[in-house]
Amino acid sequence: MFLCSLCLFVAKWFLCLFVACLTLSGIVDKFRVTGGRELHGRVAISGAKNSALPCMAAALLTPETVTLHNIPYVRDIITQRRLLEDIGATVLTPELRTHKISAAHVELFEAPYELVKTMRASVLALGPLLARFGKAKVSLPGGCAIGTRPIDLHLAGFETFGAEVKLEAGNVVARAPSDGRLRAADIHFNKVTVTGTENLMMAATLARGTTTLSNAACEPEIVDLADLLNKMGARVNGAGTETIQIEGVESLGGAEHTIIPDRIETGTFIVAAALTCGELEIKDCRPDHLTAIIEQLRSVGVVIREVNPTTLEVSCPDGLKAGHVTTAPYPKFPTDMQAQYMVLMTQAQGRSEIVETVFENRFMHASELQRMGAQIHIDGRSAIVDGPSPLNGARVIASDLRASASLVLAGLIAKDETLIDRVYHIDRGYEKIEAKLRAVGADIERVIAPVTATQSSEFNLQVASLQESKLKLEL
Ligand code: UD1
Repeated sequence: MFLCSLCLFVAKWFLCLFVACLTLSGIVDKFRVTGGRELHGRVAISGAKNSALPCMAAALLTPETVTLHNIPYVRDIITQRRLLEDIGATVLTPELRTHKISAAHVELFEAPYELVKTMRASVLALGPLLARFGKAKVSLPGGCAIGTRPIDLHLAGFETFGAEVKLEAGNVVARAPSDGRLRAADIHFNKVTVTGTENLMMAATLARGTTTLSNAACEPEIVDLADLLNKMGARVNGAGTETIQIEGVESLGGAEHTIIPDRIETGTFIVAAALTCGELEIKDCRPDHLTAIIEQLRSVGVVIREVNPTTLEVSCPDGLKAGHVTTAPYPKFPTDMQAQYMVLMTQAQGRSEIVETVFENRFMHASELQRMGAQIHIDGRSAIVDGPSPLNGARVIASDLRASASLVLAGLIAKDETLIDRVYHIDRGYEKIEAKLRAVGADIERVIAPVTATQSSEFNLQVASLQESKLKLEL
């Protein structure tokens, strides 16, 4: 009896030690990609995470239930769900892609640092909390908020609505005027901001009076959010144009809404088909949300046929030619497709210039692509790509969401094996990308391996050099 208990105790102890070791060393998923396979078949596009995130936050505006369909199964959504639950809302998922959110009981009016640091979009809780409860506290994202990627325009907007906004111990603390209700205002954004527009649009739905937002972002995700808000009883007009008018109402109710397809995932699969000289049918997408992307890709030789309003057929029978592009807010070419386009241009005949105007330092993928053999020269906000250059498999590090997508694309055409570290970045925004790619012929697998101390320090050194100039983007 004593022996049995002792054995049990020792076994438990070893189990704990094993788990602790794994936790300390860290489990880091990688993708192993073997290049050279053409992609053929059909791929279905998931819901847009950049639309789902603000729509989930909008559920905080009402005590009634908001039901959202076509929510993508990605890590940022899990983080947003945790944020809502921490605040006191209940989130039910009767089906994998359906969320029923009820914020009838909200106990906490804040988004803690642990969540905000992993996902900047947590700041979207500010507008709804402030508008409905008159108070909100959100941690500033990872120290970079007032530096390379500020939220100053969100905060200035709340102040124009009459809120008092203070910075306390790394948190933004905002309070509505003494009667608890924000006052409508005319707000001109001096820079186009997507989440800024969304945050202020949500806040304005419950403000006293009519708000006008000018130089607003026009992204399809803004229109999707406005559609949901209007279903909840808001009066939002002009979403999708540079001027949005929001007539404030006393309260909002429940609604049911289906999230639009992800235009960046769609664009990524178009590039995958073209790069591998394959032929893909891309379904459940919205080609009308990708006008600039489709136009640009056609101009460099990609053949894109619109089969119907939700389906595209993509091939690239005659090879690629170089083409310049400049990123800019919607409806122009999106910054979120810049990294993928760069990989495409490494295989194009001639010299392309890619100019990034939305974010500073969004070329972290370039150095990894260079290590694979790409001819890329970075000069400030401009990248010169000379092609075609054969790529070789290498061990590379994913640095942010779209950069990781570009490394997967590069791996698909590289000679031999590419091992991509830190794919948790890609898991933030692409639903089961490896399964979708494998289903159309790619040789890609997820490798789940504990990291040893030596590997970990070697790896951290590489990461440190990558992040030398504080380039940590959490897009
Ligand atoms: C959103 C998208 C992201 C995309 C980006 C640009 C989500 C969850 N994320 O990010 O995928 O890459 O739009 O299309 O929708 N800026 C300020 N002050 C502010 C806010 C922004 O100066 O208060 C600047 C930013 O530093 C950047 C530019 O404005 O240079 C655009 O940023 P913004 O549109 O706000 O990006 P996000 O909404 O964070």
